[in-house]
Amino acid sequence: MRIKELQQVYGEEQIQTRVAELAAEISALYDGEELVVVCVLKGAFMFFSDLIRRLEGPQVEADFVRLASYGRSASSSRTVSFVKDVELSLAGKHVLVVEDIVDTGYTMDFLLRQFAARGVKSLRLAVMVDKQARREVPVNADFTGFALPGGFVVGYGLDYAERYRELPAIFEVIPEY
Ligand code: IMP
Repeated sequence: MRIKELQQVYGEEQIQTRVAELAAEISALYDGEELVVVCVLKGAFMFFSDLIRRLEGPQVEADFVRLASYGRSASSSRTVSFVKDVELSLAGKHVLVVEDIVDTGYTMDFLLRQFAARGVKSLRLAVMVDKQARREVPVNADFTGFALPGGFVVGYGLDYAERYRELPAIFEVIPEY
């Protein structure tokens, strides 16, 4: 795909305001509790670091996973696996997964099932951008930054072929036809 232009969808200030709102909600919910916050690499790194530095209620432990997915979506042959698992034990812990974007849902469906099987005390999902309309398997976020109807977006950790992750705002990629 050749890119014609990037069109801003969510600005830097708008993102930071929304992250602060989510952090306040999360802080209130886990006030005084221990909380393992899991960043899904690579895409969630920016959202994760902005979010956890604003948490005030919980005692935070940070950990990281990286997932790989193979096969086409819209087919049961789509498989997801760990490239890197968390290093902390999740048994008996409140766990909050932080993801950049949920699209078809295959990736988060895999991760949430894996974590649920580890005897967690609670398991929730925070996602910056939710493409609910594209879901092929049901995944519901507990905290959502923005609901995006469609389109491919980059920036704020999200990439197209590893580019644009460093941008502080989120842009829709407009292809050249
Ligand atoms: P899912 O398994 O289809 O929900 O895919 C989730 C993953 O696909 C995300 O973690 C992203 O890495 C990638 N992805 C889906 N949509 C976009 C997008 O619009 N921009 C960048 N990456 C995306």
